[in-house]
Amino acid sequence: MTPRKVIVFSGSLRKESYNRLLLNKLVSMAPTHVSLNIFDISPIPLYNEDVEFSAYPPAVTNFKNLVKSADGVIIVTPEYNYSIPGVLKNALDWASRPPTDIPFTGKPGAIMGTSISQYGSLRSQLHLRQVLFALGVRVMNTPEICVPKAKDLFATGDLIDERTISHLQKFWTAFTAWIDNNL
Ligand code: FNR
Repeated sequence: MTPRKVIVFSGSLRKESYNRLLLNKLVSMAPTHVSLNIFDISPIPLYNEDVEFSAYPPAVTNFKNLVKSADGVIIVTPEYNYSIPGVLKNALDWASRPPTDIPFTGKPGAIMGTSISQYGSLRSQLHLRQVLFALGVRVMNTPEICVPKAKDLFATGDLIDERTISHLQKFWTAFTAWIDNNL
């Protein structure tokens, strides 16, 4: 199998984030031919067009270069008020500037998330899908990974729910094929 590079990042900056635990589980289950780069969006400053033209932030350049060199992108995100966290939107907004240099364009991508509610970040994923459409990401449709009731499922710090683990296994099979077919 062709070696693949995938960048993965979370929409939560929280140290004890459930989405971070989901991301960790996903990473631990990656196929051997996939190398993962776990990127932290927290150094990305608030978007300001004045800053874009006067002092383009090195953290954004770094982020964009890592996306450029990746074969695929995975975003793991919580739901904030039925949408994506501002920090995630902010990072994606930066990456979309200038519009002539959007590293996400044409990249195979996938999204997933968990929340404490029964909907498991579903509504934020719908919004994220729309934002990624603007950036030109080829977002995989299925399997949808919406992990509900994060407080219960991640109570021990590790994800041991058999059903979710089985979904993550299916996810990797589908996403590696998605990369092969969309690069
Ligand atoms: C939330 N949370 C939340 N959950 C949900 O299912 N739907 C929602 O609309 C919201 N809205 C929301 C807004 C804000 C500002 C916060 C801080 C939280 C709860 C959310 O699921 C919970 O805090 C998760 O633990 C966030 O994910 P991490 O940080 O644990 O990965």
